[in-house]
Amino acid sequence: MQGLKRPHTTIVLAISADGKIADAQRSPPRFGSPADKAHLESQVAQADGVLFGAATLRAGGTAMKVVNPDLIQRRLDQGKPPQPVQIVCSGSAKIDPQLRFFRQVVPRWLLTTAAGAVSWQERPEFEQVLVISEENSANPAENQDDWIPVFEQLAELGLQRLAILGGGELIASLLAVDLVDELWLTICPLLLGGANAPTPVDGVGFAAEFAPRLELLSAQPIEQEVFLHYRLKH
Ligand SMILES: NC(=O)c1ccc[n+]([C@@H]2O[C@H](COP(=O)([O-])OP(=O)(O)OC[C@H]3O[C@@H](n4cnc5c(N)ncnc54)[C@H](OP(=O)(O)O)[C@@H]3O)[C@@H](O)[C@H]2O)c1
Repeated sequence: MQGLKRPHTTIVLAISADGKIADAQRSPPRFGSPADKAHLESQVAQADGVLFGAATLRAGGTAMKVVNPDLIQRRLDQGKPPQPVQIVCSGSAKIDPQLRFFRQVVPRWLLTTAAGAVSWQERPEFEQVLVISEENSANPAENQDDWIPVFEQLAELGLQRLAILGGGELIASLLAVDLVDELWLTICPLLLGGANAPTPVDGVGFAAEFAPRLELLSAQPIEQEVFLHYRLKH
């Protein structure tokens, strides 16, 4: 993968102390403190694009946009647009156009299959509809051949830094093709439990000997939470 021109990628997630990113009902994650929300917003403000899975959008209904005026000003001072591009990844492209997301003042792109693209291409909601797989499969982009050209295309479209905000299914597919550079986890003081509650990395999992390895860059407790920052060892 050396020489591949692609955006630098950083996952940002809040997790319960038992390692869940949502409860078993997949409710929107509202368990982070104001400090965690500020941390998430600061990571989003450093990104050119924000990538998330369709289930995350369906659960929350909105994108995480930058609202802090200082962060917006810093972006403008750096010659960036006020908001990063919000990129939804969906194989089916079955996304309710009534979601509040579509009324937020943010640029929106869609990553989907050739079949999924058909229903959105002539509509105004997404500025770009990028095709991740020509297959009409409901679960595309499971291998490197699918993701690598998409990430190259994102770089060509000017995205140097990508924040990846979940969920566990999308993250599993990106880790499987070694496209993740950094990981922020905020450990929050609650236990969600539930065998079917989503975790930071779902999918089929990795055998321990092949599991992606991390290097701890920092660990900072703030009040009741712990902010962990890792780098992926490629
Ligand atoms: N605590 C946190 O920080 C945090 C952050 C984010 C999300 N969450 C929570 O996590 C839950 C959602 O996570 P999740 O794992 O269920 O779902 P997800 O990863 O957000 O979304 C899964 C969907 O994304 C699309 N997708 C994922 N990988 C794809 C690929 N390789 N190619 C094409 N499409 C792909 C598919 O959409 P289609 O079904 O449309 O084909 C798939 O069904 C929600 O409860 C959300 O609130 C928590």
